[in-house]
Amino acid sequence: MNDFLFHNKYLEEGQKISKVDFPDTMEVECKSPSNIALIKYWGKYENQFPRNPSVSFTLTKSFTSTRILYKPSQDKKFSLEYFFNNNRNKDFEEKLIKYFDNIQQYFPFLKSLQLRIESYNTFPHSAGIASSASAFSALALCLCTMEKQIFKNNNDLSQKASFIARIGSGSACRSVYNGVVLWGKTLSITGSSNEVAKDINKLVHPVFKTYYDTILIIDPSPKKLSSSDGHKLMYNHAYADARYKQANENLKILLGALSAGNELEFAQIIENEAMSLHGLLLSSSPGYILLHPNTLIIIEKLQNFRMDTKFQFAFTLDAGPNIHILYSSKIREKVIDFIESELKQYCKNGSWIDDKISTL
Ligand code: DP6
Repeated sequence: MNDFLFHNKYLEEGQKISKVDFPDTMEVECKSPSNIALIKYWGKYENQFPRNPSVSFTLTKSFTSTRILYKPSQDKKFSLEYFFNNNRNKDFEEKLIKYFDNIQQYFPFLKSLQLRIESYNTFPHSAGIASSASAFSALALCLCTMEKQIFKNNNDLSQKASFIARIGSGSACRSVYNGVVLWGKTLSITGSSNEVAKDINKLVHPVFKTYYDTILIIDPSPKKLSSSDGHKLMYNHAYADARYKQANENLKILLGALSAGNELEFAQIIENEAMSLHGLLLSSSPGYILLHPNTLIIIEKLQNFRMDTKFQFAFTLDAGPNIHILYSSKIREKVIDFIESELKQYCKNGSWIDDKISTL
């Protein structure tokens, strides 16, 4: 499959649509959760294509809700206003204007519309939860719903939304789907693509569908390194090729573990991915230390807890200091007790977020 299959399809479809038939209520509202990567996307090339395939769990409680009010503009020119938590946010608005420049080719009807976009998140800013993933996924779902409302088509909304979300933020394309989601071309999964994500829930053992994600907030301050700048560090990274090879190998093992319900192997792979991501960050030019001393303390405590109890749980990290603990419903009480008694004291103001893989 080439990298432009969906690009060509959506470009063609957009051009064919001519009759604009505005509905009575020109308003759409969509929600989309964030996701946590198990196999990390770190490194990209033009058009927001990933250097390696990634896999994530889509979450449940941590989501963005977005509403778009739209109307034909008087001067037949596109315009938008963006509000976050009821306040106009000019910084994100500027980002969105560039984003709309990129996606208008797939939604020609947008050209003569005036949009008011309103969003809020159910999770705190910089809590170690990717807000760009849920933000662009919710926005893309709104735009595809608008298209459906206006043209009354029966197109597959999720796939186009995943494609459109990816252009805003790579990992956002995974948030369009629930449960366990793959993004990126791999020989292991038929129909996988660099352009859109794919849900792989059918291949996953039921035990993983009971998984929780408890997020320990160690440092809620804004990110030291934006994801876009982080991906750029991979351009000249000495370990880049080895990393992409490792990600593909880890993916194969993870897919096996996910389908067999092998929680031990699952944990080994995803912890290796988290550590590797930070290994890449440390060895970049310039190098970045995004781990906090408390991150290391907690990791050590988790490792000891596992050794003592033989419980099967796993931890992962994004490009930041906060820790995600992933575990099945079978050991939920024990894990929560351990967090309360041993880990909470290392979290900023004792804070942690209780989330869960989304149901299918
Ligand atoms: C470490 O998707 O946020 O969370 O495509 O530049 O918006 P852009 O990057 P982004 O990168 C996510 C990086 C990661 C790993 C992952 O989610 O796979």
